[in-house]
Amino acid sequence: MLGGKRMRPYVICHMCTTIDGKILVDRWGSLPSGQSGGSLFEKTAASFGVQSWLVGTHTMKEFAAKSRRLKRVKQTVPPGDYLADPNARRFAIGADAKGVLRFSKNTIGGDHVVLLVTRQVSNDYLAHLRSAKVSYLLCGRNRLNLGSALMKIRSSLRIRRLMLEGGGMFNGAMLKAGLIDEISQVIVPVVDGGPDVTSVFEIPGPRTQTAAAKLKVIKHRVLTGGIHWFRYRVEMRTAARRP
Ligand SMILES: NC(=O)c1ccc[n+]([C@@H]2O[C@H](COP(=O)([O-])OP(=O)(O)OC[C@H]3O[C@@H](n4cnc5c(N)ncnc54)[C@H](OP(=O)(O)O)[C@@H]3O)[C@@H](O)[C@H]2O)c1
Repeated sequence: MLGGKRMRPYVICHMCTTIDGKILVDRWGSLPSGQSGGSLFEKTAASFGVQSWLVGTHTMKEFAAKSRRLKRVKQTVPPGDYLADPNARRFAIGADAKGVLRFSKNTIGGDHVVLLVTRQVSNDYLAHLRSAKVSYLLCGRNRLNLGSALMKIRSSLRIRRLMLEGGGMFNGAMLKAGLIDEISQVIVPVVDGGPDVTSVFEIPGPRTQTAAAKLKVIKHRVLTGGIHWFRYRVEMRTAARRP
């Protein structure tokens, strides 16, 4: 906060998980409520009425075009951020530090696509995004600086509330950076058990002596089919302490 004004959006991390915290919904089959993990996610996320969402590179890839070689361009793109649709009010924001994603359109379900990129991405890549009218914000030299990315999301896109929607690695990095205010976890009555299956928070770096964060339950609902929906406020991050 500065001068009483929040400089970044309020961030709610919303995820559907098994009871062992795993997040790959395609492994769950049909749930006892009769719906798929994907439709449960969409329905519960929509109930927040938050217009914009943010995801990691792997998750955004599921909405992007097929991988293809970039066209070589002769002209250098203008420096700085690029906002292709100044009138957009709903945003699909994805991390792409290395410039690996490809797009043939600039909306996902009507939400305008914005990528968080670093200065390591090529001129050809930025030209590709411009040709697809996909917006981008430069947020760091080699790695995405998540704190400044969120400040740009607030100042350039005027977003006050943002849904963080995975995956586990990106959620973990956001939690470690202290950028999650609330967690909304929908727990399905399934055990995944796969040791290498991504979980809801994959905190980067070596294992710490203590758990990553302490939470306070602020809401709990039981949905049809034994699905439990918890909302937590992030009270304290504890991962700063190392062994
Ligand atoms: N169950 C649910 O509710 C739910 C919700 C969303 C997604 N998912 C699932 O989650 C899976 C993907 O999860 P994931 O953990 O593999 O991938 P992810 O979190 O979507 O993406 C991880 C990638 O983001 C990139 N990244 C860019 N900047 C980063 C930063 N500052 N910190 C950390 N990462 C950064 C990294 O790629 P580089 O290092 O190459 O840049 C990293 O490998 C998908 O299968 C998706 O369907 C489930």
